[in-house]
Amino acid sequence: MEIIRVKDAQEGGKKAFELVKEEVEKDAKVFGLATGSTPETFYKELINSSLDFSDKISINLDEYIGLSGTDDQSYRYFMNEHLFNKKPFKESYVPNGKAEDLEAECRHYDQIISENPIDVQILGIGQNGHIGFNEPGTPFDTSTHVVKLTESTINANKRNFENVNDVPTHALSMGIGSIMKAKKIILLAYGKAKAEAIKGMVEGEITPDLPASVLQNHPDVVVIVDEEAASLC
Ligand code: F6R
Repeated sequence: MEIIRVKDAQEGGKKAFELVKEEVEKDAKVFGLATGSTPETFYKELINSSLDFSDKISINLDEYIGLSGTDDQSYRYFMNEHLFNKKPFKESYVPNGKAEDLEAECRHYDQIISENPIDVQILGIGQNGHIGFNEPGTPFDTSTHVVKLTESTINANKRNFENVNDVPTHALSMGIGSIMKAKKIILLAYGKAKAEAIKGMVEGEITPDLPASVLQNHPDVVVIVDEEAASLC
């Protein structure tokens, strides 16, 4: 794991952009993407750059169950607003949270991932160490699956909803097994609330209790952290 310390999210976004640009120049074609507040500065850098993604593919990590892509709380909507409307890709995949048959949607998403092996995966991290919506206890070999969100995740995400009861309780998430197959992983984390998870991920035991710790087993992970997120390392 390579750790890059930055001043703040602005500098982190710039650093992540530089790394992604290098990969594009090496012909990376498929990008695994995350939502949440963490990658926003990185997406701004992408939008303001001249990099062309119109022949590239993006595959998002997750989506809330029950929300359609036009719902402004959905992750599809977030991605359209923060990236795709201004920097279009050839194809942009996000799990379908309104699928009638969720198991079939999971297998369909796995098929998409296996046909488009991910060159660069962008990750944030939850306060409880989740990656994607793979909550503590998720086996390391999972593929796309239905997740019951933990109270910690629902509380962390309620800031985006009017009422905590509006936060969906379930999501579809790419599995840890699929994330680990990405050739390169860039994980971003900012702020004190992430410090415990970052310490556990970098220095702790590799355990499903802290899903991000599995990244210690990956050959090419870059972690971009600000001072606060790195404060316990
Ligand atoms: C989002 C995702 C999550 C977030 C994590 C951190 O697609 O996969 O794992 O990366 O919950 O969220 P923020 O960035 O909002 O702190």
